[in-house]
Amino acid sequence: MTAAAERLRVAVVGVGIGRSHLRGYREVADRFDVVAVCDIDAERARPVAAEHGVSRVVTDLVELLRMDDVDVVDLCTPPHLHFEQIQQVLGAGKHAICEKPLVSSLAEMDELARVEASSGRRIMPIFQYRFGHGIQKLRLLIAEGVAGTPYLATVETAWRRRAEYYAVPWRGKWATERGGALLSHAIHNHDLLCYVLGPPRRLFAYTATRVNAIEVEDCAAATLEMADGSAASLGVTLGSPEEISRHRFSFCGLVAESNTRPYTNSGDPWTFVADSPELSERIAATLAEFRPLPEHYAGQFYRFYDALRESKELPVSLADARLSVELITAMYYSAESHQSVTLPIGADHPRYSSWIPRDAAAA
Ligand SMILES: NC(=O)c1ccc[n+]([C@@H]2O[C@H](COP(=O)([O-])OP(=O)(O)OC[C@H]3O[C@@H](n4cnc5c(N)ncnc54)[C@H](O)[C@@H]3O)[C@@H](O)[C@H]2O)c1
Repeated sequence: MTAAAERLRVAVVGVGIGRSHLRGYREVADRFDVVAVCDIDAERARPVAAEHGVSRVVTDLVELLRMDDVDVVDLCTPPHLHFEQIQQVLGAGKHAICEKPLVSSLAEMDELARVEASSGRRIMPIFQYRFGHGIQKLRLLIAEGVAGTPYLATVETAWRRRAEYYAVPWRGKWATERGGALLSHAIHNHDLLCYVLGPPRRLFAYTATRVNAIEVEDCAAATLEMADGSAASLGVTLGSPEEISRHRFSFCGLVAESNTRPYTNSGDPWTFVADSPELSERIAATLAEFRPLPEHYAGQFYRFYDALRESKELPVSLADARLSVELITAMYYSAESHQSVTLPIGADHPRYSSWIPRDAAAA
């Protein structure tokens, strides 16, 4: 960020989901100026850049990284590229924002933390659903002590993906997508569970491929013992004719339930049902103080700007992404070994260097 130009100058790399990022930056245009778009597919990138008023389009990340007037590079490329590209971005003296899944193993995650610490630049993983107003209200109720002891959380991700979705060459394969529904689809809903309750300490998971003819899983279920002692269950399918996402959290003082919109269920409305008239009043009084900030991508970018300016913790940190990668590693290892898995997972775990199940890696 330069003193003269208060806005952060961003380049977006990859114009699939990158288009949603571009819309997000426009919502907070007083903080960000998108100065370049990069995609190896120039035909795809040009109209997207034009739609967002970005005049510079390049097809090579190295060329982009030579530009002096770029502060932040936002990587929206396929997952198997993230680890190398993030390091290239930091090496060029720029901050990196990167789509999920951030990397492909806990070993890569820990390496990135070391690289970031010595770079003087920051890495922000994307978990945009955290900034929906519904889940932010629940976080406020917890912080204000209204919710009390957590008992049970249930998380459902019932989406629909058909064969044409897997026509994109990198999808559905361990080598390039690095996982299935747990990694690519339910990762957000499971991040939201940990955003509210913190990490699990033990889990058991089952995965299956039943919906599409792909290598990776498209159905899964898991039971979790959270570190706070509460219980959680996760259900995932990509074969649901009606698509929903749902979070339901039972606490001593209240039960919180999300709406079921599949892709924006962290936003309003959520219902909060209290255990007593007194708690009902406290919920109403607490929520009356709720200050809505921008949501989703714009919400994460908005907070990123403040965090950089004030040298504060980023709205999504590498530790958050590590927990998400740890959860993935534990679930795949449990499904592969038919055993429960204890967290946290350290360097001595058999899947520390890759969560890809041994049978799949050998195939
Ligand atoms: N946060 C979310 O809700 C969300 C939603 C969808 C996808 N994603 C993630 O975003 C990433 C991209 O997914 P997608 O669905 O947009 O994929 P996509 O295949 O639709 O788009 C990826 C783009 O990256 C470009 N690309 C590939 N290699 C490149 C390179 N070396 N340099 C520059 N551009 C390159 C491709 O040409 C393509 O246009 C994945 O990690 C995915 O998991 C996140």
